[in-house]
Amino acid sequence: MDIARTPATPDGNPEMADAAVEPHAPALIRREDYAPFPWRVAATHLDFDLGLEKTRVEARLTLERNPEAERSPTIRLNGEGIRPLEVRCDGASTSSHTMEGDDLIVTLPGDAHELTLVTEIDPAANSQLMGLFASNGMLCTQCEAEGFRRITFFPDRPDVLSVYTVRMRAPKAEFPVLLANGNCTAEGDDGDHHWAEWHDPWPKPSYLFALVAGDLVARSDSFTTMGGRKVALNIFVRDGDLDRTEHAMESLKRAMAWDEQTFGREYDLDIYNIVAVSDFNMGAMENKGLNVFNTKYVLADIDTATDGDFDAVEGVIAHEYFHNWSGNRVTCRDWFQLSLKEGFTVLRDQLFSQDMGSAPVKRIGDVRVLRSVQFPEDSGPLAHPIRPDSYQEISNFYTATIYNKGAEVIRMMRSMAGEEAFRKGCDLYFERHDGEAATCEDFVTAIEDGAGLDLERFRLWYSQAGTPRVTVALAHEGETATLTLSQEVPPTPGQPDKQPMPIPLRIALFDRDSGTHSGEQLVVLNEASETLRFEGFAAPPVLSVNRGFSAPVRIEREIARDELTFLAASDDDPFARYEAMQDLVVGHLGDVVAGGLAAEEREAGRDAIRTALGAVLADDRIDDQMRGELMMLPGETYLMEQALVADPGAIHNARETLKTWLGRELGEELAGLHERASRAPGTLDPAAQGARKVKTLALTYLAAADPRRASQMAAAQYDGATTMTDRQGALMVLAGLETADRTAKLLDFYNRYRSNDLVIDKWFALQASSLHPQAIEHVKSLRNHGDFTLRNPNRARSLYMAFAGNPQAFHAASGEGYRLIADLILELDPINSQTAARFVPALGRWRRIEPGRAALMRGELERIAGASQLSRDTFEQVSRSLG
Ligand code: BES
Ligand code: ZN
Repeated sequence: MDIARTPATPDGNPEMADAAVEPHAPALIRREDYAPFPWRVAATHLDFDLGLEKTRVEARLTLERNPEAERSPTIRLNGEGIRPLEVRCDGASTSSHTMEGDDLIVTLPGDAHELTLVTEIDPAANSQLMGLFASNGMLCTQCEAEGFRRITFFPDRPDVLSVYTVRMRAPKAEFPVLLANGNCTAEGDDGDHHWAEWHDPWPKPSYLFALVAGDLVARSDSFTTMGGRKVALNIFVRDGDLDRTEHAMESLKRAMAWDEQTFGREYDLDIYNIVAVSDFNMGAMENKGLNVFNTKYVLADIDTATDGDFDAVEGVIAHEYFHNWSGNRVTCRDWFQLSLKEGFTVLRDQLFSQDMGSAPVKRIGDVRVLRSVQFPEDSGPLAHPIRPDSYQEISNFYTATIYNKGAEVIRMMRSMAGEEAFRKGCDLYFERHDGEAATCEDFVTAIEDGAGLDLERFRLWYSQAGTPRVTVALAHEGETATLTLSQEVPPTPGQPDKQPMPIPLRIALFDRDSGTHSGEQLVVLNEASETLRFEGFAAPPVLSVNRGFSAPVRIEREIARDELTFLAASDDDPFARYEAMQDLVVGHLGDVVAGGLAAEEREAGRDAIRTALGAVLADDRIDDQMRGELMMLPGETYLMEQALVADPGAIHNARETLKTWLGRELGEELAGLHERASRAPGTLDPAAQGARKVKTLALTYLAAADPRRASQMAAAQYDGATTMTDRQGALMVLAGLETADRTAKLLDFYNRYRSNDLVIDKWFALQASSLHPQAIEHVKSLRNHGDFTLRNPNRARSLYMAFAGNPQAFHAASGEGYRLIADLILELDPINSQTAARFVPALGRWRRIEPGRAALMRGELERIAGASQLSRDTFEQVSRSLG
């Protein structure tokens, strides 16, 4: 990587000197440069005079020297785009301060001072949605990771913990509700203005600060903790949205109870507030006692939200709640430790959702996300370990690797320790580090000590990037089955050589005749290669490996087709059954794309899939949720991942051809399933949800095989729908067809939901992700639709993320799809750089795509790189992608 390496000053802030020489190369922040901050901020008093266009902020910091840090004659306070209007030290105005880039440096002679800083900001002009911003007339904050510095000057780093007291004053009529972290300690009236004071007793880093002011209404409830504390729960939304908050509130109470039962964690304030905003870069934010949520993850009712949306609301509500312990009570020392809170909290929310619904279905869904998002990241130019070593812009490191692979790494420790011992390790972690800013190393050590596990070598999972490849071979002789396992961790940017890592694999050896095995076992592959022997097998057993996806690795093995068919039909581990189905399809499509296989062989592969899918459709031992998982063909991104260099066009065609053929071969069974599932009630119970899932999946096969018939069925499903799941599913199928019903139903949907932003987002997304051959043209004209805007991240993503995830359209051989995304990045970057940068990885995959398209993708990246005034976010992603 060709980036300027800039040293950091003792307080961990990079000097900006090199950046001036090379305007396009922002400083590189390195983990090894960590140094504690020279000052402690015992207390922080913030006084806000709020207005949409002008907000005055007075910050009073109570400072004392940090005895554990190097002594410094100054204090560096981070800022971004703000100026100090006043600087007072111990009550008196001081002139001993300078600006260094965006930061404010104040000279402090003594060991304890009180520093007062005044700034003024314009929330309405804040299109980046970081710091204090306006959304639909309300004011709200987003401070993680480095947004607090856009509000006031402060040591904006997660290891500086302070006790906050916040006073705010605002016009009553415009902002009747005033909220901040902690408890409301006083409020009062002052003519047409009013004010409120909030105090948060728990010391916290600045990234967890939050403030909200607006015209909001709340759904209120309460939860009594295991220790007997009665907590007031409020979910604040705009007037009119209240009746869509019930599911979020029920989810919150379930999450609070689950964390007590499963992790022994209790809530620690008298209030838990959630506020929903419609302009938000992320899904949600765990600010202490005052979570701020994207409306997408709060609002849900059966008419406007799909079953998937309901699950997502439950999962995100739980995730942010769980951060109260994994993130807030124990926070991160620096942003390199991000996975300490995010990976752990994702694992916690995954386990919660597993317990709330079908565990295997949740596991399969989580693995699907890992493979389609994290695996490509790990094998491309943006690969990084779950604890990175350096970054330019921290916003770019909220990745699937930090989150999802981070969760998998902790899940492996849990598998090796066993649930009970793992819980002891977690208890020890919370006990040791409560109130501290900790590191990933602290976490591993606590699990080691508490669970009684040796994780010496396992720590490599934190430092090595890349998805390990595990080669599996099973031999049989006499009564002995011999299993040879070997591993290889591929090179990644900056890490050419890797060491073998401990890989826990759950395995079972099946007796083919009886269809059973004599018990699952956990083997840990520690070395580059190991051989294991199993006695007592008169006939060659069938190996089921990486059951439950016990390790985030790729398995490579020679396995006979009839063994896969056997596992697809009989494995008692639902994940392994799913995996065998996927492998059957991946193998066949690989053969088709590679060519060169005799037609008979190819057809034998295809027939095996038909037989297996037919059995899935007829199997009455599984529920519909699981049936749906087994019916899903592997996604194109995952298929592309299987090849060293992929041809997206060939992969798309092969997959569509197979779908069409299966739809024809199993047409009657699929239609029968659709009919049976259509009789299920429009309720939220698992059986009804499962029915809706298989119903639309059946339609997708039929749409490929017999578009006219499927169009009629989809139109009927649309007309008869009493749930958004059915309606959206039908419309999704119609959007890919060229029939009169397509136009009619798209129009009907728009008119029916035109006043609901979240549903209109779906309307944009399903056209942008459709199988329709003119999807690109549709996106181009939707860009000019009256309801489209780049200023709202949900809307921008609804059109363009959906498009970037539509392989046929995005990878159009002409390169037009790439151009569309590059144009979007350039247009969005000055408005909202964080959101813009998130579109870069789609183009960054060029090295793994066939040469014609690769050149076009690279060309677009170069065009972006050549633009003047690129944000640090986008610059970093583009330069790393070009490599
Ligand atoms: N702490 C994050 C929110 C965040 C992300 C802030 C990136 C700043 C930058 C929050 O806990 C989170 O992880 N949210 C996820 C949803 C979650 C269920 C994985 C999100 O917003 O996507
Ligand atoms: Zn999180």
